[in-house]
Amino acid sequence: MTAPLAAVVLCAGKGTRMKSETAKVLQPLLGRPMAWYPVRLALELEAKNVVAVVGHQAEAVKATLSKAFEAQPLSFALQEQQRGTGDAVNAARDALKGFKGAVLILYGDVPLLQTSTLKALVDGFNQSKAPLAMISCRPADPHGYGRLLRRDGKVVGIVEHKDANEEQKKIGEINAGIYVADAAFLWEALSKLEPKNAQGELYLTDIVSAAARSGGVTVIEADATEVEGVNDKAELAARAKVLQQRINRRHMLAGVTLMHPDTTFIDDAVEIGPDTVIGPFVSLGAGCEIGANVTIGQGCVLNRTTVGDGCEVKPYSVLDEAQVDPKCIVGPFSRLRPGTHLEEGAHVGNFVETKKARLGKGTKANHLAYLGDAEIGAGCNIGAGTITCNYDGVNKFVTTLGNGVFIGSDSQLVAPVKVADGAFIAAGSTITEDVPQDALALSRAKQVTKEGWAAKRRTMLGAAKKK
Ligand code: UD1
Ligand code: MG
Repeated sequence: MTAPLAAVVLCAGKGTRMKSETAKVLQPLLGRPMAWYPVRLALELEAKNVVAVVGHQAEAVKATLSKAFEAQPLSFALQEQQRGTGDAVNAARDALKGFKGAVLILYGDVPLLQTSTLKALVDGFNQSKAPLAMISCRPADPHGYGRLLRRDGKVVGIVEHKDANEEQKKIGEINAGIYVADAAFLWEALSKLEPKNAQGELYLTDIVSAAARSGGVTVIEADATEVEGVNDKAELAARAKVLQQRINRRHMLAGVTLMHPDTTFIDDAVEIGPDTVIGPFVSLGAGCEIGANVTIGQGCVLNRTTVGDGCEVKPYSVLDEAQVDPKCIVGPFSRLRPGTHLEEGAHVGNFVETKKARLGKGTKANHLAYLGDAEIGAGCNIGAGTITCNYDGVNKFVTTLGNGVFIGSDSQLVAPVKVADGAFIAAGSTITEDVPQDALALSRAKQVTKEGWAAKRRTMLGAAKKK
């Protein structure tokens, strides 16, 4: 029988060894707060209700997690004083009042657990009649962990390292601290905990001996690397590396070429199509969607950006909240800011900055330009050094270009202004008035040429110097 699932994620810890103003469970791990990983896992397992137990910096932890999991069944319970892991889980009692089923217990500082491992744990719980299932593992060094005590092969309890005798310290099988418990059993067992131990705490681990006495304990063995916690910034970096390797491997197995995976940073939720090639030192942050046959050159940084099939994003370009339709060419050194939309086949080149700008199909802005608050049609040519003057110091205004417009180099378009289809702006113009269809607009002083003037000047200056 499959019992309904709820989850409790312990996030109350202070994390003194982080030596940081930021709570341990909010430390960034590949662009996400650390506790995001266990909460996401619980939701992936279709937990009906996930309760994060908060304590240290409760308000900050709540605010960050609620924002990250908007509209998802995540709630919070406060553990005012850290009286041990048993007390922490007990803090979720009211939040789960009336819930009948299985309660999964996870930690905000254990980010490497994989869905498959937890599925095995939940399945193990559902397939047995025991009120408790738990994860054990055999790390190279069991120092510090709680050890599994077995009698005739059956688990009878856990002894914490600090409470263990010399014989018990030799046991290599340790408690990962991850459990699935029947709700009724859990609340009953927690109400009976007593702080009779070396640390004077309410140990969650005491529910293991309680389960052994009333129906048994199901044990799922997992790889020790998956259940490693995070205590300091060195461990944080080590866990980040494992996550990064997992993500990169997934993309490589799906047909993405990573030229230098060690320096490729891809957020957990990014999608990338096959035959896409990603150069060294590329970072693809949250909310990116990359198509197939895309090339992303060295050093590019993309966030919340969509890149269509067959695009080329050349080195050192920075794209933020942009939409790039198929077959566009961007960079090198382009900066696409929020609200940029490049339609199919558009080109944006070196040192071009765009913001809230739509460039129609096949439009080119290849060198040194600022295009902000701009609606630009298809097939336009935006010359080097073009600037949309969108800001008067108080308000922003829109520049609108039709299709097939040619903007000569070094022109300023003072918004609000409209240039209709097929119009031509002469180089070096400052355009302040609308330009009708197919017209030429130029606004620069007429050229004056004085024959021999430069030679005469040299002679004069030379004579003056000799004196
Ligand atoms: C716990 C287990 C131990 C296991 C180990 C695996 C207990 C008593 N021991 O030990 O058997 O081998 O995990 O890593 O459970 N927390 C709170 N409130 C509290 C206390 C803790 O939220 O009052 C949180 C901590 O922030 C941390 C987690 O619970 O995220 C684990 O607590 P910790 O004190 O680190 O337990 P361990 O000593 O690691
Ligand atoms: Mg710990």
